[in-house]
Amino acid sequence: MENLRTFRDQWFPIARVQDIKAGRSYPKQLFGHRIILFRNENRDIVCLKDECSHMGIPLSQGCVKKGRVQCCYHGWTFNGQGECTDIPRLTLDSTKIREKASVPTYPIRQKYGMVWITVGDPGLCLDSEKEALLLQNNNEASYYSTQSLTSYEFPSHYSIASLNAFDFSHVHIHKILKHFLPVSSGHYKKTHIQQDKAQTTFVDANGENLDVIMQRSPSLQISFKGLSRLRLTRWIDVRVDLQVFGSPVDKDRSLLFAFPIFRGRPRFLLKILRPIVDFVLRFSFAEDIEIFRFQQSVRDQGGSFYKNLSPLDASWIKVHHWLQAFDESGLYEETPTIVPEKKPQQATVPPLSEPDFTLALSRKPMTREPVQPGGGL
Ligand code: FES
Ligand SMILES: [Fe+2]
Repeated sequence: MENLRTFRDQWFPIARVQDIKAGRSYPKQLFGHRIILFRNENRDIVCLKDECSHMGIPLSQGCVKKGRVQCCYHGWTFNGQGECTDIPRLTLDSTKIREKASVPTYPIRQKYGMVWITVGDPGLCLDSEKEALLLQNNNEASYYSTQSLTSYEFPSHYSIASLNAFDFSHVHIHKILKHFLPVSSGHYKKTHIQQDKAQTTFVDANGENLDVIMQRSPSLQISFKGLSRLRLTRWIDVRVDLQVFGSPVDKDRSLLFAFPIFRGRPRFLLKILRPIVDFVLRFSFAEDIEIFRFQQSVRDQGGSFYKNLSPLDASWIKVHHWLQAFDESGLYEETPTIVPEKKPQQATVPPLSEPDFTLALSRKPMTREPVQPGGGL
């Protein structure tokens, strides 16, 4: 159980900073916890539980005015600290009521152009967002730009999405992507498994290595070192690494952030390549969707598609074992469904058809659309 807790007691990326605009709220989920992000009076990003303290209506159904979120139902208003600042139409002194009406907040971090939150114990969280293997030793200004930060939500459990990202040999399905990857016509070299790290190495036709690394600690992260290289002359030499982060949205959905890191020269070519690589990654994510749906349905029926038949699969099978513990461990918050009590019907009154007040129907569905790539910070 100790290990299971570490999955939750860490920071997870949940949105791109550039997508969070003032005057709007953004419903998100992490481990099934419904939360909203919005910008407060100082335009800082804040995170509250997406549930009004009055009657539990999702705050994301309301609106954000002057950095405060107002519930759509009775208009109670909350600031970025979750404090209730206004109860419309209450002529009494509402101070005591408002003091009891705070909405829980979640701590956030901003790093690498992403908003990170935790639903675990922030005191136990390691600075996992600082430990990204391919980013930690880089000069941020020189080596990466959030212009090339792509996110995509998948209709599948976190373990399915993260293992797919780690399983490099499935590049076979990616019609465009594989042409960008010299190693896709190369060969498998070796697998190296340690306690908290699994690494598979491939070699391309030029003898260059691609290291696909999955680390369990301090957070689960996937790194592709030497993913692609474009070398035409001494002066045109571009290398691309890829860092992938994942977050469990709920039991059936997950979010992946792909973070290409460009190095080399000339600089203008790096800038030209960024949107192209973004497009290719997004296109590739979409190609995975049907596979994910299939794997999710197998999983829903209690089946398993994890077969250790090839050395190509050895390391991600190892990672699968890490994730198994996390899989059905009760770490997910069940989204509550609010159904009003039924009133007893009088025999003399003809029965009316019951309106369905199920909260889930009145809510806007969580978008499954991918976040559009945009400009850098
Ligand atoms: S339910 Fe939110 S103000 Fe009443
Ligand atoms: Fe894929």
